[in-house]
Amino acid sequence: MNYKRSLSGIKPTGNIHLGNYLGAVQGFVNLQAQKEIKNFYFIADYHALNSTPDPKNLRRLTLDMFKSLIALGLDPDISTIFIQSDVPEHTELCWLLTGLTPVGLMERSHAYKDIISHEKNPNMGLLSYPILQAADILMYDPHFVPVGADQKQHIEITRDLAEKFNRIYGDTFVVPEPMIQESVAIIPGTDGTKMSKSKNNIIEIFGSEKEIKKQVMSITTDSTPLEEPKEFETCAIYNIYKFLATPSELQEMQDNYKNGNYGYGHAKIRLYEKILEYFADARRTLQDLDNNEDEVSALIKKGAHKAREYAHPKINQVRKAMGLGELNA
Ligand code: TYM
Repeated sequence: MNYKRSLSGIKPTGNIHLGNYLGAVQGFVNLQAQKEIKNFYFIADYHALNSTPDPKNLRRLTLDMFKSLIALGLDPDISTIFIQSDVPEHTELCWLLTGLTPVGLMERSHAYKDIISHEKNPNMGLLSYPILQAADILMYDPHFVPVGADQKQHIEITRDLAEKFNRIYGDTFVVPEPMIQESVAIIPGTDGTKMSKSKNNIIEIFGSEKEIKKQVMSITTDSTPLEEPKEFETCAIYNIYKFLATPSELQEMQDNYKNGNYGYGHAKIRLYEKILEYFADARRTLQDLDNNEDEVSALIKKGAHKAREYAHPKINQVRKAMGLGELNA
């Protein structure tokens, strides 16, 4: 069979939230159904080091993210699911690409510009982050990279680097396409802007019921009185609910908004209940994984092994193309 490859990553800088799931992970799960696609998904723990997290916390978040992906439907028998730092070839490839990367290209990245707008003394990792991301991707020669809209520029930089490498050293890397599904490209957070760990506007998927309720109740709304009709299209509660509800449930909420005598508090409770219901099975699977450390360790090893089976020959191919000696297995 003529396989295509899909690859994507997620940073363990916090617990998985609705934006991650709807914008990215749900797409990974759907791709698994296509037999002609080989899937690679990983926890980007090297990337998380930029914010110098507490080591114990980083490891816990990394393991939690690994388990969360499986609980949400990634299947280790179908996909290669791994932890980035289990495959040190990523850091080597990052260095090999660094010499090809213009400083200006990094300085123009949106993510870096955002950072320096509030950070006076940014570290080198933040500047060169897109090179590591390019290495993560190019290592596995994926044809497409399923991501949310915020990653688009990183994929463009990856494409630029792949093309440049291929031009200088000969055809080595597949030039990947971003795969961004417009309808879920930017999931809003509790303040109506893009949901993001750094903005403190997230709704966690596997938080405690109390935490999720608190996050949902904090959604920003206007001050239309309870008895009056309300606009649903512009309401942050509705704009999250619509991704989880069935068509008839959505219609019901629209009618409630239009008819009045339905407060934002009611809509928030409905959303809260929907989140718990939607992820109930995943929550049970996560609990099982939490109770089964040995199984999780075995899955992590299996993922690392499968990833390195690809990464090791690839790094040798790159080393050879660049005039470096090959590494033994
Ligand atoms: P991260 O960890 O910020 O996000 C993981 C995935 O979730 C998507 N996402 C969203 N999609 C829609 N709406 C939102 N509000 C939302 N918030 C997050 C992101 O677009 C992403 O797809 N740099 C990456 C991690 C990474 C990576 C890679 C991704 C490292 N190496 C290689 C792809 C390929 C990041 O910080 O994602």
